[in-house]
Amino acid sequence: MKVAVIGAAGGIGQALALLLKNHLPAGSDLALYDIAPVTPGVAKDLSHIPTPVSINGYSGEDPTPALEGADVVLISAGVARKPGMDRSDLFNVNAGIVKSLAEKIAVVCPEACVGIITNPVNTTVPIAAEVLKKAGVYNKRKLFGITTLDVIRSETFVSELKGKNPLDVNVPVIGGHSGVTILPLLSQVKDVSFSDDEVAALTHRIQNAGTEVVEAKAGGGSATLSMGQAACRFGLSLVKALQGEANVIECAYIESDGGLAPFFAQPIKLGKDGIEEVLSYGELSAFEQQALDGMLDTLNGDIQLGVDFAS
Ligand code: 2OP
Repeated sequence: MKVAVIGAAGGIGQALALLLKNHLPAGSDLALYDIAPVTPGVAKDLSHIPTPVSINGYSGEDPTPALEGADVVLISAGVARKPGMDRSDLFNVNAGIVKSLAEKIAVVCPEACVGIITNPVNTTVPIAAEVLKKAGVYNKRKLFGITTLDVIRSETFVSELKGKNPLDVNVPVIGGHSGVTILPLLSQVKDVSFSDDEVAALTHRIQNAGTEVVEAKAGGGSATLSMGQAACRFGLSLVKALQGEANVIECAYIESDGGLAPFFAQPIKLGKDGIEEVLSYGELSAFEQQALDGMLDTLNGDIQLGVDFAS
């Protein structure tokens, strides 16, 4: 497997590259690309870690050498939030970055699975889809918005509140990756119960957890290390499934035919060709149903912005 990290010199990219260098299966190739000249140096640095994963770094205007032959492309390139900003405030810069990367992917590695981290994910994923469609290479089974950070945050916060081992807690998160579009399905967490107040407070905290980090970093950016961990978890799941492991399930933001929005985050089963099956998100509580109904205008608006931008 060849995994390309695009935006590899940034805070998320470096954390992700470090984790992948340590955890990709033996024999994998890791390619790092970033416009920043330091990128080959980041790869050199990581190459001294003794794992059976080869690593190369590329910088400059052209990501082609990193993308060539890639099975999985993880994109974290772009600018991050500062205090007071919403993810949608990143649109002007990041939309163009994702568009031009998708144009490159369409030519260099059209068969690759592409995971997008670059915000606003609700909008950048539809942009990539439109670009790939225009190039005639779009495969809805191979394009993902990485929402795993919402899942791991939910697992952490639930386990803290309920005194559980976080490794035993599983929380599906559906919708999108911004504010009210992030909907943790707390009613589906096994072996714990929540009061109505706990559900309301936890949901609000999970929806605003990115902002919690942005404010704590006080102008120094947004979540990078936890995002790197989340993207690594998703990337490794993808690699395992592509290599034939059965029953690999994650939540991700994907093209949806569920009738709610053209793109929607929900549980999926991954397989040798990307998404093997889109899984039902199951029964919702009354609170969750109301939150779902309430997010749809925002989510559909975010998606339309991406479609309009790409065309
Ligand atoms: C977050 O949720 C960076 O979007 C990312 O913190």
